[in-house]
Amino acid sequence: MSNKNKGLCSVNLMHCVLVIVFSIEVVNSLTDPEIIPRSQWYAKPPKSIQPMENPVPYVVIHHSYMPPACYNLEDCIGAMQWMQDLHQINNSWVDIGYSFAVGSDGRAYEGRGWSRVGAHAPHFNNKSIGICVIGDWREYLPPEQQLATVHQLIQMGVREGKIAQDYRLVGHKQVRYGTACPGNKLYDEIKTWTNFYNCSPDTVPELRTEAAPKEAAVSEATPSNDTPSDDKPSDDPPSDDKPSDDQPSDDVDAENRLRKRAPSVVY
Ligand SMILES: *[C@@H]1O[C@H](CO)[C@@H](O)[C@H](O)[C@H]1NC(C)=O
Ligand SMILES: *[C@@H]1O[C@H](CO)[C@@H](O)[C@H](O)[C@H]1NC(C)=O
Repeated sequence: MSNKNKGLCSVNLMHCVLVIVFSIEVVNSLTDPEIIPRSQWYAKPPKSIQPMENPVPYVVIHHSYMPPACYNLEDCIGAMQWMQDLHQINNSWVDIGYSFAVGSDGRAYEGRGWSRVGAHAPHFNNKSIGICVIGDWREYLPPEQQLATVHQLIQMGVREGKIAQDYRLVGHKQVRYGTACPGNKLYDEIKTWTNFYNCSPDTVPELRTEAAPKEAAVSEATPSNDTPSDDKPSDDPPSDDKPSDDQPSDDVDAENRLRKRAPSVVY
């Protein structure tokens, strides 16, 4: 009898422990990620802002390719500043292109945030959250905590009504011709995620109907905006993430419109 009780007791104890461990797991997966706001990575102000309606129906996953993965706050702040300079100065965009970036340190970094039109995937910029998984993920998978933060960020967006419940998750190359972004390893990973949306540039209507006229409009409106593609390192994979490929026509058009409306841009 006492033996039997002991047995029951330890089973119960085990059960308790399992329940507690399980609860912690569930709570963790619902935890908001640590988000480093713009002020904490010393972001420059955007040259202009275009508001975006929420919730958005798409989440677009990118890798940075360059800069490489960052594993601590200091390096990730450096990566954010590098990307903002590349996008704002070299590319003449209004701001860093992504909505958010996520470091291998497991932190999320605020880019344009939830409710501003981004510059990361033409034709999808005004209806998606663009998340850059900082690093080159063609051959290696990002560390577990980096992937976990991407999940948490998306879940947070859904919970807060920024991202539609039935959102479509895509990799950049599914909505853009000629890019290998977000890298094969990361792409294979996100294929297994909830809400992954199986599409390709050939099947998304946005590219079929808008590609040609938009590109013409950009080259006409912004003759000096081309980032010299010759500058890219020779080991750059074909069209992989080179800045000019990400030239978001929406962003440039918006910037030109704003310039016309308000010659002196107020930050
Ligand atoms: C951005 O522009 C700076 C200054 O012209 C240049 O040194 C740098 O190489 C450019 N960065 C890239 C990635 O093209
Ligand atoms: C996004 O921009 C396109 C092209 O300007 C426009 O047709 C579309 O209605 C916009 N979508 C949203 C959700 O604002």
